[in-house]
Amino acid sequence: MSGCPFRERYAFPSEAQESYDASQDGTNKASKDELIYGDYLQLDKIINAQELQSEKKGNKIHDEHLFIITHQAYELWFKQILWELDSVREIFQNGQVRNERNMLKVVSRIHRIAMILKLLLDQFSVMETMTSLDFYDFRKYLVPASGFQSLQFRLLENKIGVPENLRVPYNRKHYRDFFKGKENELLLRSEQEPTLLLLVEQWLERTPGLEPDGFDFWGKLKINIDRGLRDEFTHIQSKPAFEEKEDMLLELNKRKEVLTSMFDVRRHEHLLSKGERRISYKALQGALMIYFYREEPRFQVPFQLLNSLMDIDALMTKWRYNHVCMVQRMIGGKAGTGGSSGYQYLRSTMSDRYKVFVDLFNLATFLVPRHWIPKLTSSIHKFLYTAECCDSSYFSSEESD
Ligand code: HEM
Repeated sequence: MSGCPFRERYAFPSEAQESYDASQDGTNKASKDELIYGDYLQLDKIINAQELQSEKKGNKIHDEHLFIITHQAYELWFKQILWELDSVREIFQNGQVRNERNMLKVVSRIHRIAMILKLLLDQFSVMETMTSLDFYDFRKYLVPASGFQSLQFRLLENKIGVPENLRVPYNRKHYRDFFKGKENELLLRSEQEPTLLLLVEQWLERTPGLEPDGFDFWGKLKINIDRGLRDEFTHIQSKPAFEEKEDMLLELNKRKEVLTSMFDVRRHEHLLSKGERRISYKALQGALMIYFYREEPRFQVPFQLLNSLMDIDALMTKWRYNHVCMVQRMIGGKAGTGGSSGYQYLRSTMSDRYKVFVDLFNLATFLVPRHWIPKLTSSIHKFLYTAECCDSSYFSSEESD
């Protein structure tokens, strides 16, 4: 146990040292104030929490042990994810995020969540060492229990921001109807509390540089895009007639449609109402601004945050994918123990409906050549270069580029 934190944490006066040595001899007895490994981690509870249904029914099936341990390991990690998620939401909610020093904390915790999810993807392969026949031997004892009833998984989805109205109906019922009492209340509360999505949206809306009476990023971008598209049109027109000219004009028209649609606020509202966009028009502008100027010191950490949020979304989708592949391997097209159609139901949860930060993924649609990006004026450049020097009113009266 040398190098063990339990040894380093305590000063080990001679009496404690003796008891520690005794515990290392295998006697494992703690003196009154000494904390020992097993007690600290409450291992008696965790290690003894595997009760095989098959054994209870007098037909002990070896692999049920793996099945239980794997689920428990997932649930423990879900708990850690919720722990990190709640702390991040709290930082945003308390307004602590206005102090940019806290951004690093936010980013590292969100990144940690992504790393946990990455680990969870691989755990399915351990489960897959169990054959479908082995699973078949004890599956009958599990009915009607199902992963669908995982409270923590649902809390996780809700707190990140999976919208309730976009959920795939489960046996034509609302997902919350499958949870009773306190669990039901917790789920309802998690739907009503500010989600990570909402908090990020509000934060993006405050992106410095969006102020129409300041740097006016959006206004300048529109001018530059219009000018860029016009220049390209003139350039193509000036070429002598040749076969590809028509194609080039068609191509330019398509790009024009996409890029000008970006400035159509009514279209944005329409897509929002259909759930195809999830953040406000202003937040979208903030995200694009961070994207374009990500190399500026003050935007580097926000840019990392946007990336990690996309990682979370992508990893959750991969989790669903790995899970559904395993389910198909284990039960084929059979119905789930929870009563859903099984494979078909799970497949339907892999669409964009369950993605939360879709808008961040879609930002790439609006990328433009570098020289179309509005040049930073000297005052906003200074602001973005100098961390925490002032607030955004610093550059309210701007020179134009
Ligand atoms: C042999 C392994 C597994 C099989 C055959 C299986 C099967 C299923 C099926 C059929 C469903 C759909 C609901 C139903 O009708 O029961 C489901 C949902 C679910 N399972 Fe599994 N599962 C397995 C392992 C796991 C593991 C290791 C976890 C980790 C926690 C897990 C978590 C979940 C969750 C969270 C849902 C709800 C998904 C949603 O509604 O979007 N499952 N599972």
